[in-house]
Amino acid sequence: MSRKPAHTDSEYTFKLFRLDPEKAQEPCYDTYRIGFPQGTTVLEALLHIQEKEDDSIAFRFSCRSAVCGSCGMLVNGAPVLACRTQLSSLIGDQVLVEPLPNMEVIKDFIVDTTPFWKSYRMVEPWLHTDGQPVPEKERLQSPREVHKLEPYINCVLCACCFGACPVIGFDEEYIGPAAIAKLFRFMRDSRDRRGTAFLERVNRRAGVWNCRTIFRCIDACPKDIRPTDTIEALRREMVLYRFKKFFRLVR
Ligand code: SF4
Ligand code: F3S
Repeated sequence: MSRKPAHTDSEYTFKLFRLDPEKAQEPCYDTYRIGFPQGTTVLEALLHIQEKEDDSIAFRFSCRSAVCGSCGMLVNGAPVLACRTQLSSLIGDQVLVEPLPNMEVIKDFIVDTTPFWKSYRMVEPWLHTDGQPVPEKERLQSPREVHKLEPYINCVLCACCFGACPVIGFDEEYIGPAAIAKLFRFMRDSRDRRGTAFLERVNRRAGVWNCRTIFRCIDACPKDIRPTDTIEALRREMVLYRFKKFFRLVR
Protein backbone atom coordinates (compact mmCIF):
# COMPACT_ATOMS: atom_id res chain seq x y z
CA MET A 1 0.00 0.00 0.00
CA SER A 2 1.04 3.59 -0.55
CA ARG A 3 2.92 5.56 2.11
CA LYS A 4 2.45 9.30 2.38
CA PRO A 5 5.47 11.58 2.20
CA ALA A 6 5.92 14.16 4.95
CA HIS A 7 4.04 17.48 4.81
CA THR A 8 1.25 16.04 2.72
CA ASP A 9 -1.12 18.70 1.39
CA SER A 10 -3.34 17.04 -1.18
CA GLU A 11 -4.16 13.52 -2.25
CA TYR A 12 -4.23 12.47 -5.88
CA THR A 13 -5.32 9.34 -7.69
CA PHE A 14 -2.69 8.34 -10.22
CA LYS A 15 -3.71 6.10 -13.08
CA LEU A 16 -0.58 4.98 -14.87
CA PHE A 17 -0.45 3.40 -18.31
CA ARG A 18 1.56 0.20 -18.22
CA LEU A 19 2.78 -1.76 -21.21
CA ASP A 20 5.74 -3.97 -21.76
CA PRO A 21 5.34 -5.15 -25.38
CA GLU A 22 7.74 -8.02 -24.72
CA LYS A 23 5.31 -9.42 -22.17
CA ALA A 24 1.83 -8.24 -23.22
CA GLN A 25 0.03 -6.98 -26.29
CA GLU A 26 -2.53 -4.84 -24.45
CA PRO A 27 -1.81 -2.09 -21.94
CA CYS A 28 -3.25 -1.99 -18.45
CA TYR A 29 -3.44 0.79 -15.85
CA ASP A 30 -2.07 0.81 -12.31
CA THR A 31 -3.77 3.03 -9.76
CA TYR A 32 -2.28 4.69 -6.67
CA ARG A 33 -3.82 7.14 -4.21
CA ILE A 34 -1.02 9.23 -2.71
CA GLY A 35 -0.71 12.63 -1.05
CA PHE A 36 1.89 15.18 -2.10
CA PRO A 37 2.83 18.63 -0.85
CA GLN A 38 2.14 21.80 -2.80
CA GLY A 39 4.67 22.33 -5.59
CA THR A 40 5.19 18.64 -6.41
CA THR A 41 5.57 17.99 -10.13
CA VAL A 42 4.25 15.01 -12.05
CA LEU A 43 7.85 13.86 -12.53
CA GLU A 44 8.53 14.02 -8.79
CA ALA A 45 5.35 12.07 -8.14
CA LEU A 46 6.38 9.41 -10.67
CA LEU A 47 9.83 9.15 -9.10
CA HIS A 48 8.18 8.70 -5.71
CA ILE A 49 5.86 5.99 -7.02
CA GLN A 50 8.79 4.28 -8.75
CA GLU A 51 10.83 4.35 -5.55
CA LYS A 52 8.13 3.43 -3.05
CA GLU A 53 5.54 1.44 -4.99
CA ASP A 54 6.84 -0.20 -8.14
CA ASP A 55 10.38 0.10 -9.43
CA SER A 56 9.45 -1.45 -12.78
CA ILE A 57 7.66 1.73 -13.99
CA ALA A 58 9.67 3.08 -16.92
CA PHE A 59 9.98 6.71 -18.03
CA ARG A 60 12.65 9.06 -19.34
CA PHE A 61 13.89 12.11 -17.47
CA SER A 62 17.16 13.91 -16.96
CA CYS A 63 17.47 17.63 -16.14
CA ARG A 64 14.20 18.08 -14.17
CA SER A 65 14.10 21.70 -15.30
CA ALA A 66 12.49 21.72 -18.77
CA VAL A 67 15.78 21.89 -20.63
CA CYS A 68 16.58 18.35 -21.76
CA GLY A 69 13.12 17.61 -23.21
CA SER A 70 13.22 13.97 -22.04
CA CYS A 71 10.08 13.70 -19.92
CA GLY A 72 7.39 14.44 -22.52
CA MET A 73 4.25 12.42 -21.77
CA LEU A 74 0.47 12.71 -21.75
CA VAL A 75 -0.98 13.95 -18.48
CA ASN A 76 -4.76 13.95 -18.37
CA GLY A 77 -4.70 13.77 -22.16
CA ALA A 78 -2.39 16.75 -22.71
CA PRO A 79 1.21 16.42 -23.97
CA VAL A 80 3.43 18.03 -21.32
CA LEU A 81 6.87 17.93 -19.79
CA ALA A 82 6.32 16.04 -16.55
CA CYS A 83 9.04 18.06 -14.81
CA ARG A 84 7.31 21.41 -15.34
CA THR A 85 3.77 20.24 -14.63
CA GLN A 86 2.75 20.69 -11.02
CA LEU A 87 0.06 18.41 -9.65
CA SER A 88 -1.73 21.47 -8.30
CA SER A 89 -2.06 22.85 -11.84
CA LEU A 90 -4.28 19.91 -12.86
CA ILE A 91 -8.04 20.11 -12.60
CA GLY A 92 -9.26 17.81 -9.83
CA ASP A 93 -7.35 15.04 -8.10
CA GLN A 94 -7.16 12.54 -10.97
CA VAL A 95 -3.78 12.18 -12.69
CA LEU A 96 -3.89 9.99 -15.77
CA VAL A 97 -0.38 9.47 -17.16
CA GLU A 98 0.14 7.93 -20.60
CA PRO A 99 2.89 7.86 -23.26
CA LEU A 100 3.03 10.43 -26.06
CA PRO A 101 0.93 9.32 -29.06
CA ASN A 102 2.17 8.86 -32.64
CA MET A 103 5.18 6.80 -31.57
CA GLU A 104 5.51 3.13 -30.64
CA VAL A 105 5.64 2.33 -26.94
CA ILE A 106 8.91 0.73 -25.88
CA LYS A 107 7.81 0.42 -22.26
CA ASP A 108 5.26 2.34 -20.17
CA PHE A 109 5.91 6.06 -20.91
CA ILE A 110 9.00 5.48 -23.03
CA VAL A 111 8.27 5.78 -26.72
CA ASP A 112 10.41 5.14 -29.77
CA THR A 113 11.25 8.64 -30.98
CA THR A 114 12.90 7.43 -34.21
CA PRO A 115 10.22 8.99 -36.49
CA PHE A 116 10.61 12.34 -34.71
CA TRP A 117 14.40 12.36 -35.24
CA LYS A 118 14.03 11.15 -38.83
CA SER A 119 11.91 14.22 -39.60
CA TYR A 120 14.31 16.45 -37.72
CA ARG A 121 17.34 15.25 -39.69
CA MET A 122 15.45 15.80 -42.94
CA VAL A 123 15.63 19.59 -42.53
CA GLU A 124 19.39 19.53 -41.81
CA PRO A 125 19.13 21.47 -38.53
CA TRP A 126 22.55 23.05 -38.58
CA LEU A 127 24.04 26.23 -40.00
CA HIS A 128 24.64 26.03 -43.75
CA THR A 129 27.59 28.31 -44.39
CA ASP A 130 27.89 27.59 -48.12
CA GLY A 131 31.65 27.20 -47.91
CA GLN A 132 32.24 30.58 -46.31
CA PRO A 133 35.57 30.67 -44.45
CA VAL A 134 35.40 29.90 -40.76
CA PRO A 135 35.84 33.21 -38.92
CA GLU A 136 38.57 33.63 -36.35
CA LYS A 137 35.97 34.11 -33.61
CA GLU A 138 32.19 33.66 -33.80
CA ARG A 139 29.84 34.45 -36.71
CA LEU A 140 28.43 37.72 -35.49
CA GLN A 141 24.78 38.78 -35.54
CA SER A 142 23.25 42.12 -34.69
CA PRO A 143 20.86 42.28 -31.70
CA ARG A 144 18.06 42.83 -34.23
CA GLU A 145 18.97 39.62 -36.09
CA VAL A 146 19.08 37.67 -32.83
CA HIS A 147 15.74 39.15 -31.80
CA LYS A 148 14.16 37.79 -34.99
CA LEU A 149 15.22 34.26 -34.04
CA GLU A 150 14.28 34.37 -30.39
CA PRO A 151 10.71 33.02 -30.70
CA TYR A 152 12.07 29.87 -32.38
CA ILE A 153 15.34 29.01 -30.68
CA ASN A 154 14.14 27.51 -27.41
CA CYS A 155 12.93 24.17 -28.76
CA VAL A 156 14.05 21.40 -26.38
CA LEU A 157 13.15 18.61 -28.84
CA CYS A 158 10.68 17.06 -26.44
CA ALA A 159 8.41 15.76 -29.25
CA CYS A 160 5.30 16.99 -27.40
CA CYS A 161 4.12 18.74 -30.58
CA PHE A 162 4.86 15.61 -32.61
CA GLY A 163 2.72 13.58 -30.20
CA ALA A 164 -0.03 16.20 -30.22
CA CYS A 165 -0.47 16.51 -33.99
CA PRO A 166 -3.48 14.49 -35.20
CA VAL A 167 -2.20 14.45 -38.80
CA ILE A 168 0.82 12.33 -37.81
CA GLY A 169 -1.67 9.89 -36.29
CA PHE A 170 -3.06 9.04 -39.73
CA ASP A 171 -0.12 9.95 -41.95
CA GLU A 172 3.17 8.79 -40.51
CA GLU A 173 5.02 10.33 -43.46
CA TYR A 174 4.08 13.85 -42.34
CA ILE A 175 7.24 15.61 -41.25
CA GLY A 176 5.50 17.26 -38.30
CA PRO A 177 5.62 20.64 -36.56
CA ALA A 178 8.98 20.54 -34.76
CA ALA A 179 11.06 19.87 -37.87
CA ILE A 180 9.28 22.59 -39.83
CA ALA A 181 9.71 25.08 -36.98
CA LYS A 182 13.41 24.22 -36.90
CA LEU A 183 13.76 24.72 -40.63
CA PHE A 184 12.04 28.10 -40.29
CA ARG A 185 14.46 29.01 -37.51
CA PHE A 186 17.44 28.38 -39.81
CA MET A 187 15.84 30.08 -42.82
CA ARG A 188 15.46 33.17 -40.62
CA ASP A 189 19.08 33.02 -39.42
CA SER A 190 21.17 35.81 -40.94
CA ARG A 191 24.22 33.52 -40.92
CA ASP A 192 22.56 30.67 -42.81
CA ARG A 193 23.17 30.46 -46.56
CA ARG A 194 20.90 27.58 -47.57
CA GLY A 195 18.66 29.83 -49.67
CA THR A 196 14.98 29.56 -50.52
CA ALA A 197 15.57 26.61 -52.89
CA PHE A 198 16.05 24.46 -49.78
CA LEU A 199 12.31 24.82 -49.21
CA GLU A 200 11.76 22.26 -51.98
CA ARG A 201 12.59 19.70 -49.33
CA VAL A 202 9.31 20.40 -47.53
CA ASN A 203 7.32 21.35 -50.63
CA ARG A 204 5.33 18.13 -50.74
CA ARG A 205 2.29 16.55 -49.30
CA ALA A 206 4.22 15.06 -46.39
CA GLY A 207 5.87 18.45 -45.85
CA VAL A 208 4.30 21.83 -45.13
CA TRP A 209 1.17 21.07 -47.18
CA ASN A 210 -0.11 18.31 -44.93
CA CYS A 211 -0.69 20.55 -41.92
CA ARG A 212 -4.43 21.06 -41.35
CA THR A 213 -3.89 24.05 -39.08
CA ILE A 214 -5.22 22.26 -36.03
CA PHE A 215 -3.00 24.25 -33.62
CA ARG A 216 -2.49 21.39 -31.17
CA CYS A 217 1.26 21.78 -31.61
CA ILE A 218 1.05 25.32 -30.28
CA ASP A 219 -0.99 24.20 -27.26
CA ALA A 220 1.50 21.40 -26.56
CA CYS A 221 4.75 23.33 -26.80
CA PRO A 222 6.28 23.90 -23.34
CA LYS A 223 8.58 26.56 -24.80
CA ASP A 224 5.89 28.71 -26.40
CA ILE A 225 7.10 28.04 -29.91
CA ARG A 226 4.30 28.42 -32.45
CA PRO A 227 4.98 25.78 -35.12
CA THR A 228 1.75 26.58 -36.97
CA ASP A 229 2.97 30.12 -37.63
CA THR A 230 6.22 28.79 -39.08
CA ILE A 231 4.32 26.36 -41.32
CA GLU A 232 2.14 29.18 -42.65
CA ALA A 233 5.18 31.41 -43.18
CA LEU A 234 7.05 28.72 -45.11
CA ARG A 235 3.98 28.05 -47.25
CA ARG A 236 3.81 31.72 -48.17
CA GLU A 237 7.52 31.78 -48.90
CA MET A 238 7.18 28.67 -51.04
CA VAL A 239 4.37 30.17 -53.12
CA LEU A 240 6.38 33.35 -53.62
CA TYR A 241 9.45 31.34 -54.57
CA ARG A 242 7.45 29.32 -57.11
CA PHE A 243 6.01 32.51 -58.55
CA LYS A 244 9.46 34.06 -58.92
CA LYS A 245 10.80 30.87 -60.42
CA PHE A 246 7.98 30.78 -62.96
CA PHE A 247 8.87 34.28 -64.10
CA ARG A 248 12.57 33.42 -63.96
CA LEU A 249 13.22 36.00 -61.26
CA VAL A 250 15.25 33.42 -59.33
CA ARG A 251 17.30 30.44 -60.43
FE1 SF4 B 1 8.93 20.40 -27.92
FE2 SF4 B 1 8.01 22.82 -28.70
FE3 SF4 B 1 10.24 21.83 -29.75
FE4 SF4 B 1 7.87 20.76 -30.37
S1 SF4 B 1 8.56 22.83 -30.89
S2 SF4 B 1 9.76 19.64 -29.91
S3 SF4 B 1 6.79 20.95 -28.43
S4 SF4 B 1 9.91 22.38 -27.60
FE1 F3S C 1 -0.49 19.37 -36.69
FE2 F3S C 1 0.12 21.72 -35.70
FE3 F3S C 1 -0.57 21.53 -38.21
S1 F3S C 1 -1.06 20.17 -34.73
S2 F3S C 1 -1.99 19.86 -38.24
S3 F3S C 1 1.23 20.65 -37.29
S4 F3S C 1 -1.12 23.12 -36.82
